[in-house]
Amino acid sequence: MREGGGKANVQRPIVRKYTTENTPTAVIVTAIGCYYLGSLRPTALPDSSTTTLHEAQKPRHQTSATNLQAAWADFVEIVGKENVSTDKIDLEEHSGSDWSSYTAKPNEKPFLVVFPSTTEEVSRIMKICHDRRIPVTPYSGGTSLEGHFSPTRGGVCVDFRRMGEILALHERDLDVVVQPAVGWEDLNEELAKHGLFFPPDPGPGAQIGGMVGTGCSGTNAYRYGTMREWVLSLTVVLADGTVIKTRQRPRKSSAGYDLTKLFIGSEGTLGLVTEATLKVTPKPKSESVAVAAFPSIHAAAECVSKVVGEGVQVAGVEILDDVQMKCINDAKATRRTWKEAPTIFFKFTGTPAGIKEQIKIVQKIAKDTKGQSFEFAQGEDENRELWSARKEALWSVLAMRRNDSDRVWTTDVAVPISKLPDIIEATKEDITNNGLLAGICGHVGDGNFHTILLFNDSERVVAEEVVHRMVKRAVEMEGTVTGEHGVGLIKRDYLPHELGDSTVDTMRKIKQALDPLSLLNCDKVVRMESPKAGEVKKW
Ligand SMILES: Cc1cc2nc3c(=O)[nH]c(=O)nc-3n(C[C@H](O)[C@H](O)[C@H](O)COP(=O)(O)OP(=O)(O)OC[C@H]3O[C@@H](n4cnc5c(N)ncnc54)[C@H](O)[C@@H]3O)c2cc1C
Ligand SMILES: *[C@@H]1O[C@H](CO)[C@@H](O)[C@H](O)[C@H]1NC(C)=O
Ligand SMILES: *[C@@H]1O[C@H](CO)[C@@H](O)[C@H](O)[C@H]1NC(C)=O
Repeated sequence: MREGGGKANVQRPIVRKYTTENTPTAVIVTAIGCYYLGSLRPTALPDSSTTTLHEAQKPRHQTSATNLQAAWADFVEIVGKENVSTDKIDLEEHSGSDWSSYTAKPNEKPFLVVFPSTTEEVSRIMKICHDRRIPVTPYSGGTSLEGHFSPTRGGVCVDFRRMGEILALHERDLDVVVQPAVGWEDLNEELAKHGLFFPPDPGPGAQIGGMVGTGCSGTNAYRYGTMREWVLSLTVVLADGTVIKTRQRPRKSSAGYDLTKLFIGSEGTLGLVTEATLKVTPKPKSESVAVAAFPSIHAAAECVSKVVGEGVQVAGVEILDDVQMKCINDAKATRRTWKEAPTIFFKFTGTPAGIKEQIKIVQKIAKDTKGQSFEFAQGEDENRELWSARKEALWSVLAMRRNDSDRVWTTDVAVPISKLPDIIEATKEDITNNGLLAGICGHVGDGNFHTILLFNDSERVVAEEVVHRMVKRAVEMEGTVTGEHGVGLIKRDYLPHELGDSTVDTMRKIKQALDPLSLLNCDKVVRMESPKAGEVKKW
């Protein structure tokens, strides 16, 4: 322990106050002195428009045991003892997951997890963390994939579990106000009772807070867009405890900067979302799913590009490679056994007559592009089963683990659609040449695809290299290092290659403006401290 207990002992910056008793002489001497010093070196850098890593203010966290214990007592006063946990299992669960591509180091655990129930409690918690300079990591569903919530700096995890209510549904306005721990599946179950629907569909178990955090999307994005298109307004608690609301509820607004979008995809680094107003839309009247197998990824992709080119309004179009189809068969994810070939899943929605029409066109295009089969799901159950087999592709690869030491690495990139067949083929070849097992699936209509790699300790380096090359390939094709999963820790050092240093430095400027102490999910999205030697892979 480095310090005595209690709040009073926490180090604070020393601020010298000017007193009116200062003699004029002292003022003049100081002024001349400053002028002289100023003439020796250029002035310090806060007047720049961007913040380079070199210029960034280093995080100065206080994570001594005494400071954290004192914070524990402060939190107990706010939320009660039963809503602050230091339980070992809780701490582990909030450090990482089996399905994350990042493995948390043994010291990367929160000191405690706190479970607030209102915006006001979150604000009071943040004020304490700000006063005490304690790093904070927000946590909602815990399904993110790139080490997003691994607490690299220890400190406090804020879990929104107790903020899981739908607060208001405005049917005539087609919007809904929710708390951050509302899951997208539960929300849709509730909305369905009113004939409504919220499209963003990331991993099963994901919740609105985390979905805002990662700027997620899913199989519905081709038709409906991503999380970015479905949030009207956010209530956010900033690093010092200030509460802001980014907008009211109108469908559009030109009132100033778009702070709503600033927080979407910010991965908990700029503020904690405690409430969200979301758009909703009428639920399609009926739905049908069809599956088409192709001789090659290229043929499959060509079919998709023709469908897109014809302007057919399919609701979803997903690609799965032969390995992924085999995993689905082997894991018995659906009752039916599928052809183990490159496959496209189509989802059609609308009126029954409209669907029939769409299917006719797509079926013909599939045939013209060497499609080998075109099968329909029989009824609603099989529709759901099939689509969930796609959504849970990760679990079917997990089921292929050879033994306990195997891990999975899920990663995603996106490229302009015309480049998708090339990047999938090159990546698949790379995986095969390196003797790895990986399923490939993708939101093909958005040019976005995933690899789900299986690897053990001796294959780790090879897996890292395969992912590295896949990311590099995407950037070279004018793509992005992540289409939907987000940056977390794993994609962070790739951002400068995709966006350029100045763009990343602008992001860092925003981070420092809103969170000068780097308390919020420090180390995610942009680095606040230089990497250690060898930490960053050569591009
Ligand atoms: C099987 C499976 C399939 C998946 N498929 C998809 C897919 O198709 N598309 C897709 O986009 N993703 C997919 N994902 C990834 C994941 O579901 C998404 O990233 C999702 O948006 C994460 O939500 P969450 O609630 O689990 O967030 P968490 O993991 O809890 O957090 C995500 C990030 O947001 C921050 N955060 C959490 N709550 C808040 C808050 N209240 N305020 C501010 N920041 C917060 C966290 O600190 C973290 O940085 C999949 C995952 C799995 C396991
Ligand atoms: C702690 O959480 C429980 C469960 O949500 C709740 O019933 C209780 O009132 C909370 N305690 C305090 C002091 O807020
Ligand atoms: C990893 O898997 C490969 C292939 O099955 C095997 O040869 C190797 O021994 C495994 N290594 C470890 C550390 O389990």
